[in-house]
Amino acid sequence: MDFELPEDLVLIRDAVKDYSESVLGPLAARHDRESELAPEVFAGLAELGLWGITIPEEYGGSGLPNLALCVALEELNRVCASTGVTVSVHNSLLGSPIMKYGSEQQMSTWLPRLASGECIGAYCLTEAGAGSDAAAVTTTARRDGDDWILNGTKIFVTNGGFAGLYVVYARTDPEAPKAKGISAFLVPRDTPGLSIGAHEKKTGIRGSSTTEILLEDARVSADLLLGPENGGFKIALETLDGGRIGIASQALGIGRACLEAAIRYAKEREQFGRPIGHFQAVGWKLADMSTRLDAARLLVYRAASLRDAGKPCTMQAAQAKLAASTTANFCADECLQIHGGAGYTDDFPVERFFRDARITEIYEGATDIQRLVIARNLLA
Ligand code: CAA
Repeated sequence: MDFELPEDLVLIRDAVKDYSESVLGPLAARHDRESELAPEVFAGLAELGLWGITIPEEYGGSGLPNLALCVALEELNRVCASTGVTVSVHNSLLGSPIMKYGSEQQMSTWLPRLASGECIGAYCLTEAGAGSDAAAVTTTARRDGDDWILNGTKIFVTNGGFAGLYVVYARTDPEAPKAKGISAFLVPRDTPGLSIGAHEKKTGIRGSSTTEILLEDARVSADLLLGPENGGFKIALETLDGGRIGIASQALGIGRACLEAAIRYAKEREQFGRPIGHFQAVGWKLADMSTRLDAARLLVYRAASLRDAGKPCTMQAAQAKLAASTTANFCADECLQIHGGAGYTDDFPVERFFRDARITEIYEGATDIQRLVIARNLLA
């Protein structure tokens, strides 16, 4: 068993770290304050090849494994979690299901545009009445000749405000049991009847776009059905296995930012005549943060490696997300505590890390949903 990253992933990690520190570093607070990403970030991420990192080379991507995406996401999120989630959702919730379930025509039409960043992807599953109970979706798709007509409202759509392509999960068989009558559709932004609703004002990851997507008699041709008719719920959940590994990587990045900030402050800040890091109470916090982060990273890499090997990883992805997201929040809390009153102001980025970390325990399956998935697998 080798715990070292392969050479090509070390190069990617270092390139993304360099970009994140030099370009995203000065922008991260602005993204948070102005609730949007700076336009140059989209081009910068394209130059780095991050929009198509896992898309095969024949479709214009880099053809790298999910493990590479994890490594890149940790580095992006260490500096700017708003940028990090934008890249994670694009790759793992839209690129991934098209690669896995798309027809040749769907792949050749959409993957090159996704890989270049010309078209950003979004995933529309959640509705007002279908959050943790994702199979409760009420958005409908009705067949009309060679088309499908979609009606409903999706909420909490990451990248919703600027995506060029949405994967929408809609009920195609109202008579079937909940999870059995749902299909997945690729819905381009310019589809008549698709519009962008409210933009959410969030506690953290404020620079990322989170919107409602309204579908009012939105008409898409039958060749935009993704995967089998009524087979959409399994696509949604199998896609989320990958998405959860992405959010776990985000959590690692935020947690690492907290650990590094805490170490810096513990060395600089003096009380009672010495740097506070010399007090055992502070040193132990650093030790626990570091240990939990390293343990979570091993779970994330294991889940990504299983996914890359085409093996089942539902439980391992849930374990990775559970461990990494709770660790990120633990680290954010301890980091803020070490900073004391200063950490509670915006003089330090710690308060942003604290707000950004919180969402990792909520989206792409809340912490208790990860526990439910793990427990069901253990008891199956
Ligand atoms: N891969 C493939 N198939 C799967 C699967 C997986 N990971 N998990 C379950 N399935 C299959 C099951 O085998 C079952 O099929 P059969 O009936 O043929 O056996 C079918 O899907 C239904 O499964 P369940 O009976 O387990 O379904 P359920 O209704 O009990 O729900 C759940 C299970 C785990 C609670 C699921 O609803 C869930 O994950 N909920 C959380 C939703 C979520 O994560 N939402 C995030 C949305 S995206 C977002 O956050 C915003 C963003 O843009 C970042």
